[in-house]
Amino acid sequence: MSKIAVVVGSLRAGSFNRQFAEALIRLPAGEGHEFTFADIGSLPLYDQDDDADQAEPVKALKGLIAGSDGVIFVTPEYNRSFPGVLKNAIDHASRPYGQSVWAGKPAGVIGVSIGAIGSALAQQHLRNVLAYLDMPTLGAPEAFIQWKDGLITPDGTIGEQSAGFVGGWLENFLKLVDRHKG
Ligand code: FNR
Repeated sequence: MSKIAVVVGSLRAGSFNRQFAEALIRLPAGEGHEFTFADIGSLPLYDQDDDADQAEPVKALKGLIAGSDGVIFVTPEYNRSFPGVLKNAIDHASRPYGQSVWAGKPAGVIGVSIGAIGSALAQQHLRNVLAYLDMPTLGAPEAFIQWKDGLITPDGTIGEQSAGFVGGWLENFLKLVDRHKG
């Protein structure tokens, strides 16, 4: 059993990425594992002056990541990159200097967009940041998901056309997590 933190880069109530993330963790490949969504919407804007006295939502995020075996990032694409709210969360949990909770945590990057490239450029920017943070990140398969009718079924699972591929992605990610367990 692995403990996985799920960080969704959209705060929007009807977020496609949030709906997708909720369906992703219900796939059979995730059975027996514990998935917890990070609350990044309560975080203040990052201000380095606050490093010595981090706000409660920052401490909560850091506690969640520190206690997880791996992290799944589910990101939309905003202007060919990943959203600022996600970068804000990443920056918070990387500080104070030397006390990043990201280091060494296996990561999976996946994302949904309405555009044909399915958040590919957002994911590439995010991978660059995760490499700097020393997070071993699943390389393949890449998962650039375009939002379409039927991607998520009315009962909140991944639709049959995508379930095999997305389930395979999750399986590979959980294997990566296993390889990095002590
Ligand atoms: C977008 N969107 C978008 N889509 C895309 O494929 N490439 C892009 O560069 C952008 N840029 C962009 C900027 C901003 C500020 C917004 C609000 C939106 C569209 C985006 O994919 C769409 O709004 C998704 O629905 C956002 O994800 P959630 O909130 O549904 O998870």
